[in-house]
Amino acid sequence: MLIARTVDELRHHLFAFNKPVFVPTMGNLHEGHVNLLRLAKPLGDVTVASIFVNRLQFLPHEDFASYPRTFDSDCQQLQTHGCDVLFAPDESTLYPQPQTFKVQPDPTLADILEGEFRPGFFTGVCTVVLKLFHCVFNGGAGVAVFGQKDYQQQLILKHMVQQLAMPIEIVTGTTTRAPDGLALSSRNGYLSPTERTEAVQLSLALRSLAQAARAAKTTGSLDVAAAENHAMQSLRHRGWQPDYVTLRHAHDLSAVTQLSDQAMVVLGAAKLGTTRLIDNAEV
Ligand code: PAF
Repeated sequence: MLIARTVDELRHHLFAFNKPVFVPTMGNLHEGHVNLLRLAKPLGDVTVASIFVNRLQFLPHEDFASYPRTFDSDCQQLQTHGCDVLFAPDESTLYPQPQTFKVQPDPTLADILEGEFRPGFFTGVCTVVLKLFHCVFNGGAGVAVFGQKDYQQQLILKHMVQQLAMPIEIVTGTTTRAPDGLALSSRNGYLSPTERTEAVQLSLALRSLAQAARAAKTTGSLDVAAAENHAMQSLRHRGWQPDYVTLRHAHDLSAVTQLSDQAMVVLGAAKLGTTRLIDNAEV
Protein backbone atom coordinates (compact mmCIF):
# COMPACT_ATOMS: atom_id res chain seq x y z
CA MET A 1 0.00 0.00 0.00
CA LEU A 2 1.29 3.44 -0.93
CA ILE A 3 0.86 6.23 1.61
CA ALA A 4 0.40 9.75 0.27
CA ARG A 5 0.86 12.64 2.68
CA THR A 6 0.34 15.41 0.13
CA VAL A 7 -2.12 16.04 -2.68
CA ASP A 8 0.68 15.93 -5.27
CA GLU A 9 1.85 12.52 -4.02
CA LEU A 10 -1.72 11.24 -4.09
CA ARG A 11 -2.32 12.45 -7.65
CA HIS A 12 1.00 10.98 -8.72
CA HIS A 13 -0.02 7.55 -7.36
CA LEU A 14 -3.47 7.73 -8.98
CA PHE A 15 -2.42 9.19 -12.33
CA ALA A 16 -2.55 5.88 -14.26
CA PHE A 17 -5.99 4.81 -13.02
CA ASN A 18 -9.40 5.51 -14.56
CA LYS A 19 -11.84 4.76 -11.80
CA PRO A 20 -10.74 5.22 -8.20
CA VAL A 21 -13.00 3.87 -5.50
CA PHE A 22 -12.67 5.85 -2.30
CA VAL A 23 -13.40 5.11 1.37
CA PRO A 24 -13.01 8.29 3.46
CA THR A 25 -12.48 7.72 7.19
CA MET A 26 -11.35 9.49 10.33
CA GLY A 27 -9.21 6.47 11.26
CA ASN A 28 -9.43 4.21 14.33
CA LEU A 29 -10.60 1.57 11.89
CA HIS A 30 -12.83 -1.33 12.91
CA GLU A 31 -14.64 -4.15 11.13
CA GLY A 32 -17.24 -1.68 9.82
CA HIS A 33 -14.54 0.19 7.87
CA VAL A 34 -13.05 -3.11 6.69
CA ASN A 35 -16.46 -4.11 5.31
CA LEU A 36 -16.71 -0.79 3.46
CA LEU A 37 -13.29 -1.52 1.95
CA ARG A 38 -14.45 -5.03 0.92
CA LEU A 39 -17.52 -3.49 -0.71
CA ALA A 40 -15.37 -0.87 -2.43
CA LYS A 41 -12.66 -3.04 -3.94
CA PRO A 42 -14.55 -4.50 -6.94
CA LEU A 43 -16.13 -1.12 -7.78
CA GLY A 44 -13.04 0.56 -9.22
CA ASP A 45 -9.55 -0.05 -10.58
CA VAL A 46 -7.72 1.36 -7.55
CA THR A 47 -8.88 1.39 -3.93
CA VAL A 48 -8.13 4.54 -1.96
CA ALA A 49 -8.80 5.21 1.72
CA SER A 50 -8.22 8.40 3.65
CA ILE A 51 -7.54 9.03 7.31
CA PHE A 52 -8.20 12.58 8.43
CA VAL A 53 -9.79 13.74 11.67
CA ASN A 54 -11.72 16.72 10.38
CA ARG A 55 -11.76 19.56 12.89
CA LEU A 56 -14.52 21.33 10.92
CA GLN A 57 -17.15 18.77 11.85
CA PHE A 58 -16.62 18.97 15.62
CA LEU A 59 -18.26 21.54 17.88
CA PRO A 60 -15.92 23.24 20.39
CA HIS A 61 -17.12 21.05 23.31
CA GLU A 62 -16.89 17.79 21.31
CA ASP A 63 -14.17 15.15 21.16
CA PHE A 64 -11.86 16.44 18.37
CA ALA A 65 -8.79 16.43 20.66
CA SER A 66 -9.49 13.03 22.22
CA TYR A 67 -10.79 11.31 19.05
CA PRO A 68 -8.80 8.04 18.91
CA ARG A 69 -5.81 8.26 16.56
CA THR A 70 -4.38 4.81 15.82
CA PHE A 71 -2.45 5.35 12.60
CA ASP A 72 -0.11 2.33 12.72
CA SER A 73 -2.80 -0.27 13.36
CA ASP A 74 -5.07 1.46 10.81
CA CYS A 75 -2.33 1.11 8.18
CA GLN A 76 -1.94 -2.59 8.98
CA GLN A 77 -5.64 -3.21 8.59
CA LEU A 78 -5.84 -1.29 5.32
CA GLN A 79 -2.83 -3.15 3.96
CA THR A 80 -4.26 -6.53 5.02
CA HIS A 81 -7.58 -5.82 3.34
CA GLY A 82 -6.22 -4.73 0.00
CA CYS A 83 -6.24 -0.94 0.12
CA ASP A 84 -3.93 0.30 -2.66
CA VAL A 85 -3.41 3.91 -1.65
CA LEU A 86 -3.88 5.66 1.69
CA PHE A 87 -4.25 9.44 1.72
CA ALA A 88 -3.27 10.68 5.17
CA PRO A 89 -2.78 14.44 5.01
CA ASP A 90 -2.02 16.45 8.10
CA GLU A 91 -4.10 19.51 8.91
CA SER A 92 -1.71 21.96 7.31
CA THR A 93 -1.92 20.02 4.04
CA LEU A 94 -5.70 19.87 3.84
CA TYR A 95 -6.30 23.24 5.49
CA PRO A 96 -3.18 25.34 4.70
CA GLN A 97 -5.25 28.44 5.50
CA PRO A 98 -8.31 28.50 7.77
CA GLN A 99 -11.07 26.89 5.68
CA THR A 100 -13.38 29.89 5.38
CA PHE A 101 -14.90 28.74 2.09
CA LYS A 102 -17.44 26.07 3.02
CA VAL A 103 -20.08 23.87 1.46
CA GLN A 104 -23.54 24.77 2.72
CA PRO A 105 -25.86 21.75 2.43
CA ASP A 106 -29.62 22.15 2.02
CA PRO A 107 -30.92 23.12 5.51
CA THR A 108 -34.07 21.03 5.12
CA LEU A 109 -31.79 17.97 5.20
CA ALA A 110 -28.83 19.27 7.17
CA ASP A 111 -30.37 21.33 9.99
CA ILE A 112 -32.55 18.52 11.34
CA LEU A 113 -31.70 15.47 13.50
CA GLU A 114 -27.88 15.38 13.73
CA GLY A 115 -27.74 18.92 12.34
CA GLU A 116 -30.08 20.20 15.05
CA PHE A 117 -28.00 18.72 17.86
CA ARG A 118 -24.61 19.30 16.19
CA PRO A 119 -25.06 22.65 14.38
CA GLY A 120 -22.63 23.02 11.48
CA PHE A 121 -21.73 19.31 11.51
CA PHE A 122 -22.86 18.67 7.92
CA THR A 123 -21.22 21.85 6.65
CA GLY A 124 -17.97 20.46 8.07
CA VAL A 125 -18.59 17.01 6.60
CA CYS A 126 -19.56 18.29 3.13
CA THR A 127 -16.64 20.72 3.02
CA VAL A 128 -14.03 18.07 3.82
CA VAL A 129 -15.64 15.42 1.62
CA LEU A 130 -15.82 17.77 -1.36
CA LYS A 131 -12.16 18.68 -0.82
CA LEU A 132 -11.13 15.02 -0.45
CA PHE A 133 -13.09 14.19 -3.63
CA HIS A 134 -11.12 16.88 -5.49
CA CYS A 135 -7.85 15.43 -4.19
CA VAL A 136 -8.74 11.82 -5.06
CA PHE A 137 -10.84 12.13 -8.22
CA ASN A 138 -9.17 15.30 -9.54
CA GLY A 139 -12.38 16.31 -11.32
CA GLY A 140 -12.86 12.85 -12.85
CA ALA A 141 -15.33 10.08 -12.22
CA GLY A 142 -15.28 7.47 -9.49
CA VAL A 143 -17.09 5.81 -6.63
CA ALA A 144 -17.11 6.70 -2.93
CA VAL A 145 -18.35 4.40 -0.18
CA PHE A 146 -19.97 5.49 3.10
CA GLY A 147 -21.61 3.57 5.93
CA GLN A 148 -25.34 3.40 6.53
CA LYS A 149 -24.89 3.96 10.26
CA ASP A 150 -24.42 7.62 9.33
CA TYR A 151 -27.72 7.56 7.46
CA GLN A 152 -28.24 11.30 7.23
CA GLN A 153 -24.61 11.85 6.18
CA GLN A 154 -24.77 9.47 3.21
CA LEU A 155 -28.10 10.99 2.11
CA ILE A 156 -26.70 14.55 2.22
CA LEU A 157 -23.57 13.49 0.33
CA LYS A 158 -25.72 11.87 -2.38
CA HIS A 159 -27.57 15.16 -2.60
CA MET A 160 -24.28 17.07 -2.81
CA VAL A 161 -22.86 15.10 -5.76
CA GLN A 162 -26.18 15.29 -7.56
CA GLN A 163 -26.67 19.04 -7.03
CA LEU A 164 -23.06 19.89 -7.90
CA ALA A 165 -23.07 17.60 -10.98
CA MET A 166 -20.09 15.61 -9.74
CA PRO A 167 -19.49 12.37 -11.69
CA ILE A 168 -19.17 10.41 -8.46
CA GLU A 169 -21.37 7.53 -7.44
CA ILE A 170 -22.04 7.30 -3.71
CA VAL A 171 -22.47 3.71 -2.54
CA THR A 172 -23.82 2.96 0.93
CA GLY A 173 -22.56 -0.07 2.88
CA THR A 174 -24.79 -1.73 5.45
CA THR A 175 -24.03 -1.17 9.13
CA THR A 176 -21.68 -3.70 10.69
CA ARG A 177 -22.81 -4.83 14.13
CA ALA A 178 -21.20 -6.52 17.12
CA PRO A 179 -22.68 -9.97 17.94
CA ASP A 180 -25.14 -8.36 20.40
CA GLY A 181 -26.36 -5.94 17.70
CA LEU A 182 -24.49 -2.75 18.67
CA ALA A 183 -23.53 -0.77 15.55
CA LEU A 184 -19.74 -0.59 15.31
CA SER A 185 -18.36 2.90 15.87
CA SER A 186 -15.04 4.35 16.90
CA ARG A 187 -16.87 6.06 19.76
CA ASN A 188 -17.86 2.66 21.26
CA GLY A 189 -14.33 2.66 22.64
CA TYR A 190 -15.36 5.44 25.07
CA LEU A 191 -17.90 3.14 26.81
CA SER A 192 -17.19 1.60 30.22
CA PRO A 193 -17.79 -2.19 30.44
CA THR A 194 -21.23 -1.60 32.02
CA GLU A 195 -22.14 0.98 29.38
CA ARG A 196 -20.94 -1.36 26.65
CA THR A 197 -23.43 -4.00 27.86
CA GLU A 198 -26.22 -1.41 27.91
CA ALA A 199 -25.29 0.19 24.58
CA VAL A 200 -27.25 -2.25 22.37
CA GLN A 201 -30.50 -0.92 23.89
CA LEU A 202 -30.42 2.04 21.50
CA SER A 203 -30.57 -0.20 18.44
CA LEU A 204 -33.19 -2.40 20.14
CA ALA A 205 -35.39 0.65 20.77
CA LEU A 206 -35.05 1.74 17.13
CA ARG A 207 -35.76 -1.76 15.85
CA SER A 208 -38.84 -2.07 18.01
CA LEU A 209 -40.24 1.23 16.65
CA ALA A 210 -39.37 0.09 13.10
CA GLN A 211 -41.25 -3.17 13.72
CA ALA A 212 -44.28 -1.28 15.04
CA ALA A 213 -44.26 0.92 11.91
CA ARG A 214 -43.94 -2.13 9.66
CA ALA A 215 -46.82 -3.87 11.40
CA ALA A 216 -48.96 -0.75 11.31
CA LYS A 217 -48.58 -0.56 7.53
CA THR A 218 -50.76 -3.66 7.25
CA THR A 219 -52.72 -3.84 10.47
CA GLY A 220 -53.86 -0.28 10.93
CA SER A 221 -52.62 3.04 12.17
CA LEU A 222 -49.82 4.11 14.47
CA ASP A 223 -49.66 7.19 16.67
CA VAL A 224 -46.18 8.09 15.48
CA ALA A 225 -45.54 10.82 18.07
CA ALA A 226 -46.65 8.55 20.92
CA ALA A 227 -44.49 5.67 19.66
CA GLU A 228 -41.45 7.97 19.34
CA ASN A 229 -42.06 9.33 22.86
CA HIS A 230 -42.44 5.84 24.24
CA ALA A 231 -39.06 4.81 22.73
CA MET A 232 -37.35 7.90 24.17
CA GLN A 233 -38.99 7.41 27.58
CA SER A 234 -37.90 3.78 27.80
CA LEU A 235 -34.32 4.83 27.00
CA ARG A 236 -34.52 7.57 29.65
CA HIS A 237 -35.70 5.01 32.22
CA ARG A 238 -32.59 2.98 31.47
CA GLY A 239 -30.37 6.00 32.14
CA TRP A 240 -29.91 7.31 28.59
CA GLN A 241 -30.27 10.94 27.51
CA PRO A 242 -31.87 10.66 24.05
CA ASP A 243 -31.57 13.58 21.61
CA TYR A 244 -34.12 12.08 19.22
CA VAL A 245 -35.78 8.83 18.21
CA THR A 246 -37.91 9.41 15.17
CA LEU A 247 -39.63 7.74 12.23
CA ARG A 248 -38.83 9.47 8.94
CA HIS A 249 -39.30 9.01 5.22
CA ALA A 250 -36.14 7.34 3.97
CA HIS A 251 -35.63 9.48 0.85
CA ASP A 252 -35.70 12.96 2.44
CA LEU A 253 -35.97 12.41 6.21
CA SER A 254 -39.25 14.31 6.37
CA ALA A 255 -41.56 13.49 9.28
CA VAL A 256 -44.03 10.65 8.85
CA THR A 257 -47.52 11.88 9.65
CA GLN A 258 -49.38 9.12 7.84
CA LEU A 259 -48.14 5.62 7.14
CA SER A 260 -47.90 4.80 3.45
CA ASP A 261 -46.00 2.46 1.15
CA GLN A 262 -43.03 4.86 1.07
CA ALA A 263 -39.77 3.56 2.52
CA MET A 264 -39.19 4.74 6.08
CA VAL A 265 -36.35 4.68 8.55
CA VAL A 266 -36.15 5.11 12.32
CA LEU A 267 -33.21 7.26 13.38
CA GLY A 268 -31.93 7.79 16.87
CA ALA A 269 -29.18 9.52 18.82
CA ALA A 270 -28.67 9.28 22.56
CA LYS A 271 -26.02 9.77 25.18
CA LEU A 272 -24.99 7.01 27.53
CA GLY A 273 -22.85 8.61 30.23
CA THR A 274 -20.65 10.96 28.20
CA THR A 275 -20.74 8.92 24.99
CA ARG A 276 -23.14 9.93 22.24
CA LEU A 277 -24.22 7.08 19.95
CA ILE A 278 -26.33 7.10 16.79
CA ASP A 279 -28.03 4.31 14.91
CA ASN A 280 -30.95 3.68 12.59
CA ALA A 281 -33.32 0.89 11.54
CA GLU A 282 -35.00 0.60 8.17
CA VAL A 283 -38.73 -0.08 8.13
O1 PAF B 1 -18.05 9.34 8.52
C1 PAF B 1 -16.92 9.79 8.78
O2 PAF B 1 -16.02 9.10 9.26
C2 PAF B 1 -16.62 11.27 8.48
O3 PAF B 1 -17.75 12.05 8.69
C3 PAF B 1 -16.04 11.48 7.07
C4 PAF B 1 -17.05 11.10 6.01
C5 PAF B 1 -14.77 10.67 6.89
C6 PAF B 1 -15.72 12.96 6.87
O4 PAF B 1 -14.78 13.42 7.79
